[in-house]
Amino acid sequence: MTVHFIGAGPGAPDLLTLRGRDIIAACPVCLYAGSLVPEAILQHCPPGARIVNTAPLDLDRIIDEIRDAHAAGQDVARLHSGDLSVWSAMGEQMRRLKALDIPVSVTPGVPAFAAAAAALGAELTLPGLAQSVVLTRTPGRASSMPQGESLTNFAATGATLALHLSIQKIARVVADLTPAYGADCPVAVVYRASWPDQKILRGTLADIEAQLDGGITRTALILVGPALAGEGFDESCLYAVDYDRRYRPQSADSPWTDWTPDAEGAATHG
Ligand SMILES: C[S@@+](CC[C@H](N)C(=O)[O-])C[C@H]1O[C@@H](n2cnc3c(N)ncnc32)[C@H](O)[C@@H]1O
Repeated sequence: MTVHFIGAGPGAPDLLTLRGRDIIAACPVCLYAGSLVPEAILQHCPPGARIVNTAPLDLDRIIDEIRDAHAAGQDVARLHSGDLSVWSAMGEQMRRLKALDIPVSVTPGVPAFAAAAAALGAELTLPGLAQSVVLTRTPGRASSMPQGESLTNFAATGATLALHLSIQKIARVVADLTPAYGADCPVAVVYRASWPDQKILRGTLADIEAQLDGGITRTALILVGPALAGEGFDESCLYAVDYDRRYRPQSADSPWTDWTPDAEGAATHG
């Protein structure tokens, strides 16, 4: 018996991975975080599966469900929104399961920040503008921020920021980021990326709060940084005509001239 943690993606049911779909179809028990996991994904559960929305359950009750499945020798598909590596509460469940000696597997999912970037048609790491993306949040009722992980500290890097769980704190976000990024820094808010009711707002640190006007209060990402402008950036060297690289040696003297991929496609020099 195994508990399979599966990233269910950002909302659109067809953004679930094929691996995730197949595991769900093979598990007689499915526990899903109902606040953000779309019900359509549950159609992959086998007939007669026990399907439990864990949104109203506390951690003890969730573990009780898993223990019951374990006692019955039944595999569990454990679904969380987006990917499991960020704000999924997988860590605390895994710690309990390890103590109980219950095996686990992890299948990644499409994270919300990637779905939001796709909705915007944006590359978040544009050469010359930003080469890092910071996935972060502001402190919430249930979660404080570790010392050092302040918005002002991240703002000092100039990186693209992807702010989760923070739409209700937009005033604070704007106040903390404006000194480093400037009032005209581009901002995008994506509400329910990939869901049918997805909404996109584009603006600047100066006007995004007025644009929102309290109209979006949850399930939104705030993306901030010069890369959101989608202009004023350099072309990458990778595709430059004269860039000497493994797949396009530029002269007979190139260190890559003798290079051939081996049978597995791995790089070897001849
Ligand atoms: C508990 S976190 C879950 C993050 C998730 N594990 C992931 O990989 O993206 C929930 C927050 O993620 C963001 N989020 C989740 N789904 C979203 C979506 N479809 N569109 C925009 N933001 C979303 C929002 O900021 C929301 O408050």
